[in-house]
Amino acid sequence: MKKLFLIFIILLISFQVISETLPQYAPDKHMGVASCSTGVCHGKSVEDKTENVMMTEYRAWLKDDDHSKAYKTLLKPSSKNMAKKLGLKAAHTAKICLDCHADNVAIEKRGKKFQITDGVGCEACHGGSERWLSDHKDPGATHEKNISLGLYPSEKPADRAKLCLSCHLGTENKFATHRIMAAGHPRLSFELEVFSQEQPAHYKVDADYEKRKGSISSVNMWLSGLVFKANNQLQLLQSEQFKQHGLFPELSFYECHSCHRAMSPSRWPIEPLSNNITTGSVRLDDAALVVLSSLLNTFPNLNQSEFNSSIKQLHTASLTNRNSLNIKAQELLSSLKTYAQVIVNKKYSINDKKALRKTLLSDASKGKFRDYSSAEQVFMGIETLSIDLKDDKRYQKQLDKLFEAIHYEDKYYPNQFQIIADLFLKQL
Ligand code: HEC
Ligand code: HEC
Ligand code: HEC
Ligand code: HEC
Repeated sequence: MKKLFLIFIILLISFQVISETLPQYAPDKHMGVASCSTGVCHGKSVEDKTENVMMTEYRAWLKDDDHSKAYKTLLKPSSKNMAKKLGLKAAHTAKICLDCHADNVAIEKRGKKFQITDGVGCEACHGGSERWLSDHKDPGATHEKNISLGLYPSEKPADRAKLCLSCHLGTENKFATHRIMAAGHPRLSFELEVFSQEQPAHYKVDADYEKRKGSISSVNMWLSGLVFKANNQLQLLQSEQFKQHGLFPELSFYECHSCHRAMSPSRWPIEPLSNNITTGSVRLDDAALVVLSSLLNTFPNLNQSEFNSSIKQLHTASLTNRNSLNIKAQELLSSLKTYAQVIVNKKYSINDKKALRKTLLSDASKGKFRDYSSAEQVFMGIETLSIDLKDDKRYQKQLDKLFEAIHYEDKYYPNQFQIIADLFLKQL
């Protein structure tokens, strides 16, 4: 009993340690990409087999990684247009744009070689290198020591999720509002595992890497991403970012497609989605929550129906008033925290992973994911599971069909998604 209690405490800590300060706000100076990128450091043209890291990171970032182009994006006509519509002097000097499109640390935290034009540079993710730059390559340096000197632990799912979501979802301090979206900004969609794979990798998870940093399976990375996305959304809902703008709250918290889609054909099922989410309701974006809730079906000791009912209550509250919404968001946050211990830390067997995929497809085939943003998350989850299960080639056709159904958001039809999921399910 005592032992069980101890384990519980350790797990609790591992979910709650998301207190690592984001690189943008930590005290260390950012020395600039040019401090990392020389030909004897991370700017080599071919991999250096004598080192434990590739040493070609700078080239991978510069050539293939959109983060190196994030500042230049602010100089494009599309950004100039947005700036005009928003009444900003220029996008590339506006704090709101730079906060996500560059390593926008305070002026006093910029080293000699720092250049804002580098966009989302190394230290925007790895933390200001003021205290670890000179020593991190010494034989005596360890990963733990580097972290204690300000390196950001981007290998840890909780910290990575917090980092990526800070720009790919937003925070209390920087947020892509509906006003920004309507001025032309793309909708922000994010899933931790798929986006981690899509960012051109400048690292290899080999035996040496695992020894230094451990390794996280792609399924655990995906589930951590879902949990933290839901967690951050629920926190943001209670923040100033959600405040009323006149009659309406901040619309970016809602499922975009509950307002933005063609008026025909009629897409609503006969049954309401919950007591008051019926035809014509504007709905909060609950994609991460409903996907998690579906997955709870495979955890016999977690209470799926309670979680489901909390999501419904959140929706009801969202159509009532701000105060009830705060209360429900807080309640849901606490149950999410307890469920997260289990979901994030579990070691998933092949059968567990198959069960996760089956439950998603089964709920999709029953029309549970009607909103675009949840269908999109379901696709990314099923893709991640299939790649992890190494049967993605076998189910290539089915995965392609599912992708086609969500590829163009303006041409998404819930009934079609449902039918494709049903066919996929029958072929498992
Ligand atoms: C400081 C803000 C910031 C952080 C932190 C950040 N990103 Fe990004 N990311 C951006 C911006 C801005 C873009 C768009 C760049 C452009 O095209 O101008 C982007 C683009 C991307 C893209 C390409 C998206 C596409 O549709 O092609 C991927 C993939 C991506 N990020 C993954 C990640 C991952 C994974 C993390 C965490 C390890 C992360 N990002 C952290 C700001 C950030
Ligand atoms: C909360 C963070 C955030 C803020 C604030 C933000 N962006 Fe972005 N922006 C992103 C991310 C992340 C992407 C990549 C989206 C994706 O592909 O998934 C992006 C993509 C873009 C794109 C499309 C990229 C391309 O390749 O064409 C443009 C243009 C853009 N942003 C301009 C702006 C401008 C101008 C502002 C300020 C008014 C701004 N952004 C504010 C995070 C942000
Ligand atoms: C958008 C976020 C992002 C940016 C920008 C970024 N990295 Fe990384 N980097 C990561 C992630 C995520 C990992 C993998 C997790 C880890 O090991 O920390 C990683 C890993 C690494 C590693 C560790 C490899 C290992 O085997 O331990 C090095 C070295 C590295 N990056 C260098 C760089 C350099 C140099 C730059 C700039 C040219 C850069 N990174 C830019 C996110 C980023
Ligand atoms: C409550 C309904 C509602 C929600 C939810 C909503 N929008 Fe809007 N959106 C509107 C309205 C109303 C307009 C103004 C339409 C007009 O001017 O023709 C608008 C305008 C826009 C425009 C500009 C269209 C144009 O022709 O200039 C874009 C882009 C946009 N929204 C994107 C989004 C995104 C992305 C989301 C989700 C993050 C979202 N919206 C959520 C109601 C909504």
